[in-house]
Formats: sequence, structure tokens, C-alpha cells
Amino acid sequence: MADKNQTFVTGWPITHSRSPLIHNHWLEKHGLSGSYDRLAVKPEEFQRHIDTLPGSHFIGGNVTIPHKETAYDCVDHKEPVAERLQAVNTVWVEQGQVWGTNTDGYGFLANLDDQVPGWDKTSARKKAALVLGAGGASRAIIDALIQRGFEEIIIANRTLGRAVALAEHFGSKCRAIEIEKVSSATTNPSIIINTTAVGMNDDDQPVQLDGFSSDTVVNDIVYTPLWTPLLKQAKLLGMKPVDGLGMLLHQAVPGFEKWYGIRPEVTQELRDILLRDLGELS
Ligand code: ATR
Repeated sequence: MADKNQTFVTGWPITHSRSPLIHNHWLEKHGLSGSYDRLAVKPEEFQRHIDTLPGSHFIGGNVTIPHKETAYDCVDHKEPVAERLQAVNTVWVEQGQVWGTNTDGYGFLANLDDQVPGWDKTSARKKAALVLGAGGASRAIIDALIQRGFEEIIIANRTLGRAVALAEHFGSKCRAIEIEKVSSATTNPSIIINTTAVGMNDDDQPVQLDGFSSDTVVNDIVYTPLWTPLLKQAKLLGMKPVDGLGMLLHQAVPGFEKWYGIRPEVTQELRDILLRDLGELS
């Protein structure tokens, strides 16, 4: 019989996922049996995959595009953060029932806490953030910023309607604008977060950073390439660039702990494994 301690990342398609590198490193590090594998599950088969988890050789796993919303609908129980986001990225089996949570916001916050300690303590300024993009990732980040006590969140998007919908969902602390209208004249955030795909496959950047205060933290959640055009500009302007790899690493921590009962660490050794895989380190 297969080892019971199996875990997975499921999506459709799933070939790009780097999560196995992370979890298999931690399994080895802690001398645990089991393995974490990619599992391609078609949308029409996803519900059955979740329903049959109890009693299978899987103890849990991660869920990625396009299954996060379906997972929210079909798990038996959800943690409050998954309820707020209406999306699940981590599932586990407990007493024959499937539980779901969402660790994206946790990963976002933990990475910043790690890379820029005190990033959220802006004594002289209002706690204001500028979030670029209005998709699923943006949703998790806005929720996390609100949980951290941010008083003003500007959501800038190419399609204004999606930003307006998010701002309405999250309430009076949020304001929506068109991304092309973003400038230092309209907002003075202590952090700018890019959740759009701009810069991933081209030399573009979603906004120009000239004029923003030099102590602004600039975080791109894209990590291919690691140094996106936006982060390069932030560095040139003496701002505080934070790459997206850390969020990927940190969002994996709570899942591993739920499945295997040990809270793993995000170390430089692990970061180097991922950097090597991304071709950023020889
Ligand atoms: P995710 O769930 O990863 O956030 P998504 O829901 O596809 O992905 O959202 C992608 C985000 O990138 C959106 O905010 C999208 O803007 P629109 O809502 O206007 O589509 C943004 N985006 C993608 N390509 C873009 C581009 N070329 N210029 C500006 N924004 C772009």
C-alpha cells in the first residue's frame, strides 16, 4: 500500500508549480516519510478528488488555478480567512472531513516581515498601501493589509470595474482608480504591491515610480523574472524592492505544518534551491 503521508499540489495545468521543491526539501530536512507531488486534475474531476480525499493515501495538499474557488465550494469546513476570500489554496483531512484555508495573505505578510522588519510601522505617515491589479492575488493581499490595520488601500486596475467591485467588497478603507491614473500626486503609500502580470513576459512595468517617497517598499508578487522591471526601477530610485519568491516560500509554511505537524522554516538554503531552479543562481 502507498505511504499514507502523501501530499499534492493540484491544478490544471500544473506543470509550472515549484511547490514540490519546497515541501520535499522540508520533508527531507525533517526526516519525514511521504512525498509532495504535482497532480493534474481536470476541472470536471476536481469535486470527486476532494470528496475522495478521506480514506485515500493523501493527507492534504495545495490547490491552485483554476480550482481555488471550486475548493472553497466543496470542502467540509473552512477557516475564516478562506471564508473572507471565498477561495481555498490548502486542504487537509481531519477526522474523515476535508478542511480548507487560504495561506496567500499569510505568505505575503510573513515575507515582508522577514525581508523588511517594521515595514508596517509607519509612525510618521498614515498606513496606506497601493495595490496594482484586481484579481485573486490582489484580493488576498487587500484582506491581509486590512488585517494588519492599514487605514487606506488604493486598488488600481486596468479595468476600473474590477477594482470598484473589490473596493466595495472590502469597504470604506478601499478606493478604486484606473491604473493609468496612478501617480505620486494622487497617493502617498508606504508600500506598493504589484499583483498584475505586467513585467512577467515583457519589459513593461504597471506604473512609473518617479516621485514616490524613497522609503516606499515596492513588492512584486511575480517571481519570474525575479527582478521585474518594476523592482529594477525601485532599486534605481533607492526605494525598498522586495521580490515575489518569498511570498511563495512563506505561503507554504502553514500547509506543511497542518499535514506533518512541524512548522518548517524558510531559510536561505531553501531560497537558493528555488533560485537555482529559476536560473537566478548558478
Ligand atoms: P490573479 O488571480 O493571479 O490575480 P487575474 O485574476 O487574471 O490573476 O488578474 C490579473 C491582473 O493583472 C488583473 O488585475 C489584470 O487587469 P484587468 O482586470 O484589467 O484584466 C492585470 N493585468 C493583466 N495584464 C495586464 C496588462 N497588460 N496591463 C495592465 N494590467 C494587466
